[in-house]
Amino acid sequence: MKYEKYYKLVEEQSKIYDKTQNCAIGQTWQFHLLPVIQSACKLADIYNANRDVVELGAIFHDYANLVDYANSEQHHILGAELAEKVLKQDGFEQDFIDRVKLCILNHRASVLREKFSIEEICVADADAISHLDNVVELICWRAYLGEDIMTCNNFVKKKISKSYAKMSKETQELMKDKYESIMKVLL
Ligand SMILES: [Fe+2]
Ligand SMILES: [Fe+2]
Repeated sequence: MKYEKYYKLVEEQSKIYDKTQNCAIGQTWQFHLLPVIQSACKLADIYNANRDVVELGAIFHDYANLVDYANSEQHHILGAELAEKVLKQDGFEQDFIDRVKLCILNHRASVLREKFSIEEICVADADAISHLDNVVELICWRAYLGEDIMTCNNFVKKKISKSYAKMSKETQELMKDKYESIMKVLL
């Protein structure tokens, strides 16, 4: 695998994160990070985006959260900086690094999508898809944090609605059935 080193780096860091979140070790990697990377690569093929930029953007998109969840509010900005450090050390060109950084910086954004590159859209859409594909993990995560059923339900409902709203129109079409089914099940 081309970027195996970074897969390993992020997988290891996500195990440390799971401990701090009181989650099952490996949960975040298996049910969020890896699915985001896989969906992002699939979207890169569908939308003819640069696969390397997309794959690296997806690998590092939540990295700052994994390093310290206190970074949560700023994790898109800090994550872009951390990825730059790693990729610079490994000799990647600055232009390429900047494109990866934009994917990380804008993976949370939900407005002005037309200003974004297709690579940024792939990573942001894949992040949103992962919340729909792994809704059970989202529920378990909130339960592990000690939330009661309605607080957990409301958090997940809001997260799923926001995730669907931030997807590009094309990806919304792909995910429409799943979105509507999840919303029917939630309270
Ligand atoms: Fe994120
Ligand atoms: Fe994410």
